[in-house]
Amino acid sequence: MPYRTIIEPFRIHSVQGIAFPTLEQREAALLRAGYNLFGLHADEVTIDLLTDSGTGSMSAEQWAAMMIGDESYAGSRSFYRFADTVTRLTGLPEVIPVHQGRAAEWILFSSVAGPGMVVPNNTHFDTTRANVEYQGAEARDMVIPEGRDPSADHPFKGNMDVTALRATIAEVGATHIPLVMITVTNNSGGGQPVSLENLRAVRAVCDEHGLPFFMDAARFAENAWFIKLREPGQADRTPREIAHEMFSLVDGVTFSAKKDAIANIGGFLAMKDPELAAQCRNLLILTEGFPTYGGLAGRDLEAIATGLDEVLEEGYLRYRIRSTEYLGEKCRDAGVPIVWPPGGHAVYIDARAMLPHIPPSQYPAQSLAVELYREGGVRGVEIGSVMFGVPLEDGSETPAAMELVRLAVPRRTYTQSHIDYVGEVIVAVAERAPALRGFRITRSAPWLRHFTAQFARL
Ligand code: F0G
Repeated sequence: MPYRTIIEPFRIHSVQGIAFPTLEQREAALLRAGYNLFGLHADEVTIDLLTDSGTGSMSAEQWAAMMIGDESYAGSRSFYRFADTVTRLTGLPEVIPVHQGRAAEWILFSSVAGPGMVVPNNTHFDTTRANVEYQGAEARDMVIPEGRDPSADHPFKGNMDVTALRATIAEVGATHIPLVMITVTNNSGGGQPVSLENLRAVRAVCDEHGLPFFMDAARFAENAWFIKLREPGQADRTPREIAHEMFSLVDGVTFSAKKDAIANIGGFLAMKDPELAAQCRNLLILTEGFPTYGGLAGRDLEAIATGLDEVLEEGYLRYRIRSTEYLGEKCRDAGVPIVWPPGGHAVYIDARAMLPHIPPSQYPAQSLAVELYREGGVRGVEIGSVMFGVPLEDGSETPAAMELVRLAVPRRTYTQSHIDYVGEVIVAVAERAPALRGFRITRSAPWLRHFTAQFARL
């Protein structure tokens, strides 16, 4: 079409109202939640950009597929449709359904990781890191240097630093590395894509040392679209062809169906190795359920199978990536520093650059996230030292590499005017950024503390 505006490639079929709490109500909610935005009731939020996970709108086809879900305990027809869809997409024969991505991580790392081991990743997502560490192993991040610099312009800022990978293998020895993992897109590093060239290079290093290569494929379709847009020689391929090649380079996949399967729940673990799969299925039965449902209802398996096909439609991906970029451009045009270029599923505001007067020890990204809610009922999430800071014995902390606020865009859920409103809220907060103050943590848990930590204003 000869028009510049990329419109939503759907019409709205069913709607949910949103809440418009007053400033007084928002301030009371913040106090009650101990300034932790995970503690808000969703009915206290106007635009919820906390996550793109499980928050997408399913299509009429997905809802229709749910109606024909087969709820048989063993051998459900819906499982076979699901497993066939996954194998057709990934080429991986062993498909293990789970209730969400972190269950796949737990089962995988319980099976392969242990004390003294190191798992390399471009950047571990927080649950991936926690599951590696829970097994007593070290989760080591090695994204390329550009991936740690919010303002460095690079088409594939999610790429793994292959030199660092080689150095880690030389340092700890291949026998202490159960597998190499790569996260597409690199969520904790700004939702940035990984190139095919980088995947091939990591594959080659794994082959040299006989190491299995796994992909955290939560946002594989968005990654494939970036490859189509940005990688030389890829423009004429379909997202499905690119996704096929991505999957052909790995031995296994962990997957959260709450992202690029546009489902509200679900996930899977898929792999080539039948022996490892058998070991994983034993744990699956212990914690998730029988191997043909893995903690999911048959109707969920149907929704995922349908979503895995829809997510690769070009019209959808063009709209999807453009709508995130649109929010990113609004920030940039207002002089608000963000991880550039914008990620596939989210815009990441660089709170360290925006609030230079708040040191990492006082959680600048937490301060900004709280203020975006206080100002306009917009909920984002801190991805900085609250999430990734490492507490030391003397009570201080090693700060995270970046202090970001992620504004994640749910799939097919908000319209352009919702995003225009978010842009106005960001501008209003940016105008009084110098007046924002830091926070201290008053209570926190030993793992994944960002979900439950309580804060006090400084
Ligand atoms: N891997 C990545 C890259 C993720 O982004 C997530 C979840 C998971 C694994 C875990 O999957 O939630 O289904 O257990 N990310 C969500 C987010 C929670 O908000 O980014 P899950």
